[in-house]
Amino acid sequence: MTTTFSVEPGGSLRGDLRVPGDKSISHRSIMFGALAEGRTRVSGFLDGEDCLATLVAFQAMGVPIERRERHTLIIDGVGLHGLREPQTPLDMGNSGTAMRLMCGVLAGQPFDSVLVGDASLGRRPMRRVTDPLAEMGARIDTGENGTPPLHVHGGQRLRGRRHTLSVASAQVKSALLLAGLWSDGETCVTEPAPTRDHTERMLLGFGYDLHRDGRRTCLQGGGRLTGRAVEVPADMSSAAFFLVGGSIAEGSDLLLRHVGVNPTRTGAIDILRLMGASIEIREPREIGGEPVADLHVRSAPLRGVRIPPELVPLAIDEFPALFVAAACAEGETVLAGAEELRVKESDRIQVMADGLSALGVRCEVLPDGIRIQGRGILDAGTVSSHGDHRVAMSFAMAALRARGSIVIRDCDNVATSFPDFAGLAARAGLEIRST
Ligand code: S3P
Repeated sequence: MTTTFSVEPGGSLRGDLRVPGDKSISHRSIMFGALAEGRTRVSGFLDGEDCLATLVAFQAMGVPIERRERHTLIIDGVGLHGLREPQTPLDMGNSGTAMRLMCGVLAGQPFDSVLVGDASLGRRPMRRVTDPLAEMGARIDTGENGTPPLHVHGGQRLRGRRHTLSVASAQVKSALLLAGLWSDGETCVTEPAPTRDHTERMLLGFGYDLHRDGRRTCLQGGGRLTGRAVEVPADMSSAAFFLVGGSIAEGSDLLLRHVGVNPTRTGAIDILRLMGASIEIREPREIGGEPVADLHVRSAPLRGVRIPPELVPLAIDEFPALFVAAACAEGETVLAGAEELRVKESDRIQVMADGLSALGVRCEVLPDGIRIQGRGILDAGTVSSHGDHRVAMSFAMAALRARGSIVIRDCDNVATSFPDFAGLAARAGLEIRST
């Protein structure tokens, strides 16, 4: 038996809430804290299953990490050369980010290690990191078709290299920069379009010298990281469900507190505003090297748009929610240039198209995107999330504009990124039951 969400139709979202900590930053805070010298205190940590898997992986490599309350970690870093050989495979759960970044960390260690994950992660492409790491001297065996499990051979000498990426991927960029810490000479990564830069910001925050010049980032191997305090902002990707829900549900008025608004993460706000959404960014501030703000969303009539290609990498995780907004808008929404969505936790183009069709929305699946005919109001229906947390939460919000209840199957993985989604959404006004 897996978790099912049953959501009653209609209602509005109101109030003042803080969604859980940013997943990308929580993963990285453990990694950098573990590899730093001295103590790192992380507050606002996301206690979702994926980040807890990363925590356990570093404990298995001898890093003392203590959890104080739900959202605080004390990490006594072992330095760049202090990790110990894990005695069992490291299980990265559902997280592509953790597995790919770990490739960069483990490639330069003196010991062998094995990385495994759940069924969804077991289908995801890893050669995008293992191939460029091999060019630096790493030896990582993948399963058939370049998927996990991964066997990382230790004791390799890594050499810095200039990489030019063909995919706009923060995970690949981060893995290569991390491997660069243990490499001889300089490692540079040039990306085809800007992607989230939490790794770069955190390297600088932990005192590592880094040079950024447009889309190119370079660092020298052989430096050191120094422990510090990290305050994790609320996750823009989790806030996005409420931005969409608050936009489509009549009478909504919601304040989302302390959300990370790093410009490499705010594409969904830009796209929703192009659609006519009312989202106000209040009290922008910078905390621990990351921009943060409160977001005020009120319901507004939405219209279909052609999504500007430059916004795609900046909203990459928010498309399931944005597709729901498009389904509730007036007119057609077209997304292209987003083939990456096919290799996320699920094939998010096909899975969302199937679910929206079950709710009476006309969609045309494109190789690299989707065309959605907005229809204002959705039918009642049952959909499957295909084990994808963001698909599940997006369809939950769709009920705000449905004629009857929406049942969403296969919702266990919501706990990977948003442990109390149903509770928080219910407090804001969504009539959701989780069974
Ligand atoms: C992430 C990068 C993105 C994103 C993922 C988190 C990260 O993946 O989809 O959820 O933390 O670096 P890609 O690098 O595959 O685009």
